[in-house]
Amino acid sequence: MARAKIALIGAGMIGGTLAHIAAREELGDVVLFDIFEGTAKGKALDLSEASPVFGKDSNLKGTNDYADIAGADVCIITAGFPRKPGMDRSELIGKNLGVIKQVAEGIKQYAPKAFVICITNPLDAMVWALQKFSGLQPRKVVGMAGVLDSARFRYFLADEFGCSVEDVHASVLGGHGDTMVPLVRYSTVNGVPLPDLIKMKWTTQERVDAIVERTRKGGGEIVGLLGNGSAFYAPAESAIEMAKSYLRDKKRILPCAVRLSGQIAGVRGLYVGAPAMIGARGVEKVMNIRLKADEREMFMNSVAAVEKIIADCQEMEPSLK
Ligand code: APR
Repeated sequence: MARAKIALIGAGMIGGTLAHIAAREELGDVVLFDIFEGTAKGKALDLSEASPVFGKDSNLKGTNDYADIAGADVCIITAGFPRKPGMDRSELIGKNLGVIKQVAEGIKQYAPKAFVICITNPLDAMVWALQKFSGLQPRKVVGMAGVLDSARFRYFLADEFGCSVEDVHASVLGGHGDTMVPLVRYSTVNGVPLPDLIKMKWTTQERVDAIVERTRKGGGEIVGLLGNGSAFYAPAESAIEMAKSYLRDKKRILPCAVRLSGQIAGVRGLYVGAPAMIGARGVEKVMNIRLKADEREMFMNSVAAVEKIIADCQEMEPSLK
C-alpha cells in the first residue's frame, strides 16, 4: 500500500517540529514547503540524516515549489508569522491573510483532495479564509486550536491534582483567543467532573478559576517567555493527533475549529472550536453540546470576537465578502 503523503506548508518552528514527529512516527512521506527554500531543504536534509539513528524510513523533501505537494493526503499549514511579546493574535491578520491566500491557491491547484489542518493565527479567521479562498469542502478544512487549548487545560489540572495527565480530560469551546470557553463541567479526572472534585475538596473554585484564566492566556504566557516566537511543541503534537485520526480513520472526537452549521448555539457559517469527530471523510460529526446560560454567553462572546476578525479580513480582502 502506498505511503501517505503529508505536506507541511511552512517550515519554521512548528513546521520543523511537525516534520520531526511525522518522520519519527513514520506517518508518511513528508514534504516541507517554505518560501525560504533553504529553510525547507535544510530541515528536510537534517531530519533525513537523523533517520538512520531513530531507525525510521522517512522520505523527507524540502521545497519552495507547490507542485511538490501534488496529491498530498494531509496538508498542515503554519506558513505566516507568529506573535511577538505583547501582541494579540488578531494583530497578525495584516501579514497572515495574504500568506493564507497564496497557500489556499497552492493547495487548490495541487492537493484539492487533502485533509487540511490550519495552525496559522488568528486561527479561526485564517481557517475560515482558507476554506473560502480554496473552495475545498468545509469538512476537509479544519483549524488546530482546541486540542492545544485543552492540552494546556489538562496539564494545568494534572499539575494541580498531582496526577497523571493521562487521567485528565478537558473540553474547550469557542475561538482560539482569550475569549475561549474552557468547559469546567465537562472536564474530568478519571471521569469525575471538576465541580464534583471541588465538592470533594480536591481543589477550590478560586483555583479552578485561576486555571481557566491561565488556559485562556496560555499562548501569551509562552510568547512572553520565549521572547522571539510562539509555542511550537504543543501545537505540533496537537496537529499530528488530528492528522492521525484522519489518516487512520480513528474517529477521535477532538476539539477543532470547524465550520458550524447550527450544532452549537445555532451558530452557522463560522469556524469556531467545537468537539468534532475526525475520520476518513474529514469532519464526520460535530457534537451538538447544549450549553447552559452562562456558557452560552461566554461562547457567543467568543463567536463575536471571531466575527470581528472576519469583518477585518473582509475589509482587507473584498473577495471574502
Ligand atoms: N508561504 C510559505 N511559507 C511562508 C510564507 C508564505 N507566503 N510566509 C512565511 N512563511 C514561512 C516562514 O518563512 C517561516 O519559515 O512560515 C514559517 C513560519 O514559521 P515561524 O516564523 O517559525 O512560525 P511558527 O512558530 O512555526 O508559527 C507559525 O502558527 O501558531 C501559529 O501564530 C503562529 O501564525 C503563526 C504560525
